[in-house]
Amino acid sequence: MKHTTFHYPTLEDVRGESKKLNAFVPLADSVQALFAPLTLGKSQVANRIAFQPMEGTDGTESGAPDEKTIRRYARFAKAGPGLIWFEAVATLPEARASAHQLYLTEENVDAFKRLLDDIRAISLKENGYAPLIVMQATHSGRYAKPHGFPEPLIAYPCPPLEDTPLPEDRIVTDDDLKRYEEAYAHTATLCQQAGFDGMDVKCCHRYLACELLSAYTRPGMYGGSFENRTRFLKNCYRAAKSSISTPSFFLSSRLNIYDGFAYPYGFGVSETSGLSPDLTEPIQLIRELKAEFDLPLINVTMGNPYRNPHVNRPYDHGNYVPDEHPLEGIGRMMQGISDVQHALPDLPVLGSAFSYLRQHAGHLAAGMVENGYCAMAGFGRMAFACPEFVHDLREKGTIDPARTCVTCGGCAVLLRQGTPAGCVVRDREVYKL
Ligand SMILES: Cc1cc2nc3c(=O)[nH]c(=O)nc-3n(C[C@H](O)[C@H](O)[C@H](O)COP(=O)(O)O)c2cc1C
Repeated sequence: MKHTTFHYPTLEDVRGESKKLNAFVPLADSVQALFAPLTLGKSQVANRIAFQPMEGTDGTESGAPDEKTIRRYARFAKAGPGLIWFEAVATLPEARASAHQLYLTEENVDAFKRLLDDIRAISLKENGYAPLIVMQATHSGRYAKPHGFPEPLIAYPCPPLEDTPLPEDRIVTDDDLKRYEEAYAHTATLCQQAGFDGMDVKCCHRYLACELLSAYTRPGMYGGSFENRTRFLKNCYRAAKSSISTPSFFLSSRLNIYDGFAYPYGFGVSETSGLSPDLTEPIQLIRELKAEFDLPLINVTMGNPYRNPHVNRPYDHGNYVPDEHPLEGIGRMMQGISDVQHALPDLPVLGSAFSYLRQHAGHLAAGMVENGYCAMAGFGRMAFACPEFVHDLREKGTIDPARTCVTCGGCAVLLRQGTPAGCVVRDREVYKL
C-alpha cells in the first residue's frame, strides 16, 4: 500500500511531491488561461473548460432523459463550461450499458431537443453564452447490460478483462460489426435533429470500438493489422458522415490513447516493455481521422474504469490500492495528452482526469492550457460534485476546498449498480450509497 489520502493543502505541496515522484504535473500560478475563448473548426467556445461525459444511469426505460437527467444538465448549464461533452448515449438497444442508459430514438428525439434547448437557454441567461454540446454515441460491447445484467458483446477473448473466459457466442461477428456501423448513420441523423453541435464516435475505456483497437488476436477483417483494428471506428465515422446534413455539425471521438494492458491486449502500449505507453499508433490514428473526417478537436483519455480505474481516474479511495502514486497516474495522463497535442499542433486536444487534484485542479488545467500542452481541460467527477467550480475559478481564482470532489468513487459505485449516479458527498440529499 503506497498511498491512500490527499495531503496537499497548497500548490507548493503538489509541486514538491510531483517533483519527488518525477511526475509531469504542470501547475499554473493563476487560472486565467482557462478563460480565453477558443475556435474549434466552425464553432467557438467561451472558455477552455469542458464537462466530460458523465453517465447518470437515470434515463427512462425507453432511453429518454428523465427528471434527474434534466436536473444534472440544468446544473451543468448554469455552471458555464465552454463545452458539454454529453454522456454516453446508446446507438442500439443491445448497446446499452444499463437499462437506464440514454438511448436516442425517433420516439424520444424531441425530449433530447427540449433538454438541449433548456441547457442553452439556462447558460445564456446565467453566463451570456451557450456551451458547445457534443453527444457521445456508444456501443457498450463487453460492458453491455441492456436489461440490468451483463450481456457482453466482445471483440475478442481478453484474459486481463475476464476472470473466466466468456462463451464463444459472445464474440461479435464481422456481420454484427457491419450492422453496428450502420447504426451510427441513424444516430447521427437523430443527433442533428435533437440539436447537438457534434457527435462523438465513442472509442474509449474499452467499450466496443475501443476494444477493437487492440484486437491483435482477432482473425478476419477487424483484427490483426492497424488497418483492420481501426476499421470499425472509421466505418462508424463513414456511416455517420453519410447522414450529415447540418453544415456546422461535426464528428469527433473520445479516444483511449493508452489502455494500460500489456501487448497483445492493450492499445497504445509498447509491444516489448510491459505497460509502458507507446503513442505511435494512437497518434497515427488521430492524424488519419483528422485528415478524413475534419475533426475540430479530439478528446483524449486512458484506461478502463472496470479493471484499472486508477489509470482512468486517479483516486484517493477505491476498492483497491494501486501500486503507483495517484500523482504518477496524473503524470502519465498529462504526458500522454501533451504528447498528442505536440504531435498534432493544429488539432485542439481536450484533456481528461483533472479532478484528482481537488481545489488545485483548476491550476493543473490552466498549467496544461497555458503551456500549450492541451487546448481545453475536461472535468468529470468535479462536475458532479460542484459544477459551480467554474464560477469559483472565474471569480475567486480557485476551487473552494469545502465543495470540491474528494475522489471517493461513490458516483462510480452508483453507476455500476445501475442506479442514478451523482455525488454522494456534495449532493447527498439526492444521491445516497
Ligand atoms: C459516474 C461516472 C460516469 C462516467 N460516464 C462516462 C461516460 O458516459 N463517458 C465517458 O467517456 N466517460 C465517462 N466517465 C469517465 C469520466 O468522463 C472521466 O474521464 C473520469 O472520471 C476522469 O476524469 P475526472 O478526474 O475529471 O473525474 C464516467 C466516470 C464516472 C465516475
